[in-house]
Amino acid sequence: MGRYETSIARYREACTVLAGGVSSNFRYHPIPVPLAIERGEGPHLWDADGNRYIDFVSGNGPAFLGHSPGPVLDAVRASLDTGQAFTTVHAGEIALAQRIREIVPCAELVRFDTSGTQVDQIAMRLARHHTGRTRVVKFEGHYHGWADNIFASVAPELNRAGPRDHPEVLAQSSGQPDNIRDNLIVQPFNDVAVLEETLSRHGSETAAIVVEPVACNCGVIEPVPGYLEALRRLCDQHGIVLIFDEVITGFRVALGGAQQRYGVTPDVAVFAKAMASGFPLAAVAGSSAIMEGVTQGAVHGGTYNGITSSIAAGIATLDMLSADGATIYDKVERDGQRLMAGLAECGQRRGVSLHVQGVGAIFSTVFTDTPPLVDYRDYKATDAPMREAFIQGLQDRGVRVTLRGTWFVPAVLSDDDIDQTLDAADAALATL
Ligand SMILES: Cc1ncc(COP(=O)(O)O)c(C=O)c1O
Repeated sequence: MGRYETSIARYREACTVLAGGVSSNFRYHPIPVPLAIERGEGPHLWDADGNRYIDFVSGNGPAFLGHSPGPVLDAVRASLDTGQAFTTVHAGEIALAQRIREIVPCAELVRFDTSGTQVDQIAMRLARHHTGRTRVVKFEGHYHGWADNIFASVAPELNRAGPRDHPEVLAQSSGQPDNIRDNLIVQPFNDVAVLEETLSRHGSETAAIVVEPVACNCGVIEPVPGYLEALRRLCDQHGIVLIFDEVITGFRVALGGAQQRYGVTPDVAVFAKAMASGFPLAAVAGSSAIMEGVTQGAVHGGTYNGITSSIAAGIATLDMLSADGATIYDKVERDGQRLMAGLAECGQRRGVSLHVQGVGAIFSTVFTDTPPLVDYRDYKATDAPMREAFIQGLQDRGVRVTLRGTWFVPAVLSDDDIDQTLDAADAALATL
């Protein structure tokens, strides 16, 4: 019996009733198909063929505390009997907003929603309301949800992307309106000089700069020293709202997110994923002056925003993350650094151009002769077939990693999990 026989059969069946066989285009995983996962517990998943995986996909981010964390499930269970959606305000929302205000440097006021895409939308609307301007600067390779107005230049082909210091605005999906180009400016990440020059021409029309403070969607690229500080300075200089998209970095790279880790406070930040362990919860948080826009005409809605079960999951998750002085972040940093060093050592020993970069809680593995990656174009120039062959080799040996080479490190790995992962990587690299 083939290792993926049931997964393949299940995917075929899915394609007969689910458009495209999955519920999100970001779940395609053609090695060989999206797996038929049956169960997750801690850092492990089991598929319908009986294979066990050490899971570094982590649901693309939410399972930072592993799958099915007991205290979160208990809190959600307890919430279920109280009712779900009251269409008013409930005590849990206030309690969770207070927690976020204590933890997140930029958070004076908070609003809840259900997904990263949605909170990116309200953040940009608030910025436009606040400034009376329309244009938004985003960075090539950065992802801020799949909505029309911002789903551009996330993974562009380089033959269409224009010069590095003056990237084209390229829609990522057919069916997007042409006029998204009018409202967006795309910039290379980590290049202050190019941004300074762009803002000298367009600063007075720009409502917001939206940035992944660590570029997690294109190779896990940290900001070069001084870069986030330069974004802060340029936004202040031009009256632009600085938005950190912390949908991945939030509650992951530090309890207070990238803004705590790098010591730069944005005007507004958005959060999702790790904040609620897989339940649909997202938040926008920022300065009172900007967040008060929701009472002055900048409308934000959503039937499921702040429902009781998601809020209960959020409170229980933050309780777990902040327990014992948030020492869980020391553990995940240690585990992640051990994995990164071990993988790099395997690559060297096997004589392949494996490059590992990132921070403990999230890093990437790519194949390149010219490390490190500093912006999207560096990532795009890496050897994708080698990366995918490595990831296939890992999966065949019970280690699951995202196809783009990003490792979401769960905070609940054992030393055994790490040893097994490094053994699998060594064996996979030996076959490349
Ligand atoms: C940085 C970033 N922003 C926004 C989003 C969109 O979040 P969601 O998938 O919850 O809509 C994602 C999703 O991966 C993301 O990585």
